[in-house]
Amino acid sequence: MDYRQLGTSNLKLSVIGFGCWAAGAYGWGDVRDNESIAAIRQAMDLGINFFDTADVYGRGHSEEVLARALGNRRKEVIIATKVGNRWSADGTRIWADLSPKYIRRAVEDSLRRLKTDVIDLYQIHRPDPQTPVVETMATLLDLVKEGKIRYIGTSNLSPDQLREYISYGQVVSLQPVLNLFTRYSEVQLLPLCREKTVGVVVYSPMAMGLLTGKYNKPVSFKPGDFRTMNVLFQGKNFERNITVVKALKKFANERGYSVAQLAVAWVIAHPAVTSAICGAKRPGQIKETAGSFAWKLTHDELIEIDRIVASAA
Ligand SMILES: NC(=O)c1ccc[n+]([C@@H]2O[C@H](COP(=O)([O-])OP(=O)(O)OC[C@H]3O[C@@H](n4cnc5c(N)ncnc54)[C@H](OP(=O)(O)O)[C@@H]3O)[C@@H](O)[C@H]2O)c1
Repeated sequence: MDYRQLGTSNLKLSVIGFGCWAAGAYGWGDVRDNESIAAIRQAMDLGINFFDTADVYGRGHSEEVLARALGNRRKEVIIATKVGNRWSADGTRIWADLSPKYIRRAVEDSLRRLKTDVIDLYQIHRPDPQTPVVETMATLLDLVKEGKIRYIGTSNLSPDQLREYISYGQVVSLQPVLNLFTRYSEVQLLPLCREKTVGVVVYSPMAMGLLTGKYNKPVSFKPGDFRTMNVLFQGKNFERNITVVKALKKFANERGYSVAQLAVAWVIAHPAVTSAICGAKRPGQIKETAGSFAWKLTHDELIEIDRIVASAA
């Protein structure tokens, strides 16, 4: 495994991170705790030290599963969780809340569920238009001083929003989406992160599984599955995408890798990226994606990948 420094922090993250969204067992089809736990332990055995979750994943369940999986190995890893997606008592409604009062309550809940006395990276999940950023940042900076969180991170921000967060204190990371089908962050966000020395931990590097090559025809997910809401899985988009994946798969296989490995290798080849957060429901999945770090894509390979993706546009 390779490791990279996260922004201005003293955290060294594995370039392949582990995403615990599916471990929440909510909106991700068939998920079993024992398999999520086995996948997390497999990840640790492969040298992965960076685990990303959020309080809202499974309404607390993902954090609990992560704690169970880590057991007495907690100190070996970097735990990143998120705050700001508040949910209703029955779990069906979600809204943004980054008010000081809510953050104070949420951090205690996360610490309890994660069975830890400090969260290594505490990320705001998305902006909250109702709360001034200065108030959110003041609360987070207090939590750092109090030793409840080590570093502040962000997610789903525009360049201007990121600039505003940075203006109030140390922010060590941004978590944007980036994959071969969703590249808008490359244009403005990643250059800004490089300029400001903000680490980048990328989500959905395999486009929620679409870039693993397992879909050959349109798929109907169960009602409530998050992928039914993703345009990449819909209609003409989907047909175009699976044609691209087929061509990428051929390219990867000819070089001794899988298309999932190509997708992740492409993300970590970007000079601004610290780590690609790979979701996995089972040990075999993370075993495959963890192998991506070994493929250092050359300049020519990157150009050819761009050509393949563009050719189906
Ligand atoms: N900050 C945010 O707003 C945000 C948003 C999204 C995600 N995230 C974070 O980023 C992490 C990763 O993103 P993601 O889960 O959306 O997408 P992803 O990593 O692109 O895809 C993960 C999914 O792909 C399938 N998969 C993974 N490896 C595979 C393999 N080797 N072979 C076949 N299928 C495989 C699995 O689902 P199936 O088995 O069901 O196909 C897995 O759950 C999340 O867990 C979460 O921690 C953050």
